[in-house]
Amino acid sequence: ERGNYRHFMQKEIFEQPTVVAQTLSSYVRQADETVALPQMDFDLSSIERMTIVACGTSYYAGMVGRYWIEQFARVPVDIDVASEFRYREPPLPKGGLALFISQSGETADTLAALRYCKAQGQTIAAIVNVPTSTMAREADLLLPIHAGPEIGVASTKAFTCQLAVLAALAAKLAVVKGEMNRDEEQQVVRHLLEAPACLNAALDHDDDIAAMAHTIAPARDVLYLGRGADFPMALEGALKLKEISYIHAEGYASGEMKHGPIALIDEDVPVVVIAPSGPLFEKTVSNMQEVRARGGQVVLISDADGLAEAGEGCLATIEMPRVHPLIAPLVYAVPVQLLAYHVACAKGTDVDQPRNLAKSVTVE
Ligand code: F6R
Repeated sequence: ERGNYRHFMQKEIFEQPTVVAQTLSSYVRQADETVALPQMDFDLSSIERMTIVACGTSYYAGMVGRYWIEQFARVPVDIDVASEFRYREPPLPKGGLALFISQSGETADTLAALRYCKAQGQTIAAIVNVPTSTMAREADLLLPIHAGPEIGVASTKAFTCQLAVLAALAAKLAVVKGEMNRDEEQQVVRHLLEAPACLNAALDHDDDIAAMAHTIAPARDVLYLGRGADFPMALEGALKLKEISYIHAEGYASGEMKHGPIALIDEDVPVVVIAPSGPLFEKTVSNMQEVRARGGQVVLISDADGLAEAGEGCLATIEMPRVHPLIAPLVYAVPVQLLAYHVACAKGTDVDQPRNLAKSVTVE
């Protein structure tokens, strides 16, 4: 039931603090502050390389996961969209682990890629929302997300719950690989457990974002920029916007701007910059200045430090709480979802049933 919400998508966006907390409760133990994965036969410490395969929003979750796994566990990750992976038939490391991410657990291309990996002798892990799905059944290691049924065609709460599981997986891998000591593990657990409160703080900006949506709604094109683990968030922001508002949107790695997309910039192309403050913030600010110098209008999503440094002269700013890099993508997902949602509402599109899209893509 939709309850008091106008759309399922809106309800699911607002459920995120609850369902992320629910998901985390099966991946972190609060009592002794450890990260815990379900029982498995596979020896995680033996992993030399990992493969991740998914489609759409689940693929972007996987991209964030790659940044975390490589950064924290120092395990190299190969990632591809399932429709390419399955026909590319890549050679796979002996005794390797392949991870599939899917809300529905039924996406045809992802399932075909899973079966290919199985036939190649890989151990199969799957981050899935629907526990009775085909992927859940065929996986050796099931990592459920506990998001509850997702009705809106545009994925929202499944995405943040996938990120929560990926963060726990990255931390666990880091621990077993000896890249994260006990102290650091406790810190990570504490940060993860702060995520629901930070998601709530992000949701508090609903009204501001709704007000600003009217300035974005007339645009024909919108660009999204992000760096590091926020680069996939730029891709996700652009996907959400095009899916439900039908505005053409593209996500780019901030540093790629000057290699082409900057040619598109003028006063009619809003640029949404997703940039928590941190070591790479300066670089993103200079990419933003390049945009502004060409008349581009910037919507900056950052924390208090970031906005103090670079918020001046923006078309709009959205202030996020200051968060650890391991939960930043979860928290920054909220404003990009809300922006797409409110722009779609302003345009009067069918938010829960966008044209040409199906919730579950069971044919290729
Ligand atoms: C975007 C969206 C799609 C799905 C994709 C994969 O909002 O919902 O891009 O993420 O079709 O679906 P699952 O995760 O069910 O495999």
